[in-house]
Amino acid sequence: MAATHPSLPHKLTSVKALAESPGLSSIPSLYTFPKHTNDEVFSDTEESIPTLDFSLLTSPDTDERSKAVQELGKACQDWGFFMVTNHGVRESLMKAIIEASREFFELTEEEKRGFEGKHVLDPIRYGTSFNASVDKILCWRDYLKIFQHPQFHSPNKPPVFSKKVRQVAKEILRGVSESLGLEDNYIDKTLNLEHGLQVLAANLYPPCPQPELAMGFPAHSDHGLLTLLIQNQIGGLQVQHHGKWVSIDPIPNSFLANIGDHIEILSNGKYKSVLHRAVVNNRDVRISIAMPHGPALDAVVSPAPKLVEGERNPPAYRAMKYKDYLELQQSSMLNGKSCLESVRKYM
Ligand code: OGA
Ligand code: NI
Repeated sequence: MAATHPSLPHKLTSVKALAESPGLSSIPSLYTFPKHTNDEVFSDTEESIPTLDFSLLTSPDTDERSKAVQELGKACQDWGFFMVTNHGVRESLMKAIIEASREFFELTEEEKRGFEGKHVLDPIRYGTSFNASVDKILCWRDYLKIFQHPQFHSPNKPPVFSKKVRQVAKEILRGVSESLGLEDNYIDKTLNLEHGLQVLAANLYPPCPQPELAMGFPAHSDHGLLTLLIQNQIGGLQVQHHGKWVSIDPIPNSFLANIGDHIEILSNGKYKSVLHRAVVNNRDVRISIAMPHGPALDAVVSPAPKLVEGERNPPAYRAMKYKDYLELQQSSMLNGKSCLESVRKYM
């Protein structure tokens, strides 16, 4: 079923089709975001985003590993974002998944409509904007979201890539657990990662004739525990760091990792999920693949008891089932960290 919007034609067009309309020189007002006057953007130069060498995190040398865990903890606390190098996922697999996504978006509008979901928890869901049925301003973005775990779904690809990425994510989460002073399998066990949700979200950002007026993906934090992202070497991602927007250009063949809202909850706010957004440009098609890794859908997430110390550090978030959080976040209008705010406890 096509999403409905009061001022949209019955069938919502993709941004791809809009961007390809002959002679398009300005964008429809529905895609115009208010200008952020003090939105100065910095490039990632002075203080650069941390890098995690995955081979050190998995090193048999205990000194090397504990140093990597320590650095991971620092990256989570300082930035909430880091690049992951030497992860062992083949470059050809990374490229293939980007190409498969490009091919999907090149299907006809009619063919793609066959993948429109009816519910935010449908395992395969094609769409445009973030949640076109409630968004007041539309994002310059088309997407395809596919659940990869606990059940694997795919329009046409084998699960090799997703399995490899999942192993990387699980290993990083083991390090995150340890860096918080918890048992290394705390997250895995408590949140039942054996049945954890893993989504593959392919984002398409077509060239935009007025990129300064549009937004690919407005400021948000991610649900779940850890997101791993790759892209087709075209920049656009910006991360909020110390109150400023910083453009991130990932090292080729690395993953860009960020911690999600559920690590913020589990760590009782020690590690914060970080606002990020995707801007668009007027030259190149940008494709990114974001892979959020979350708890099992029926797992209840709350601050780890060990990180909550009586009156000095009381639990700052309510316990909530991951599925309920996901439904709430995905069916609302995207608005910064407002979903996480709704489970925050005010003392
Ligand atoms: C996301 C996301 C950013 C990007 O899909 O959650 O933040 O660069 N994407 O596409
Ligand atoms: Ni995101």
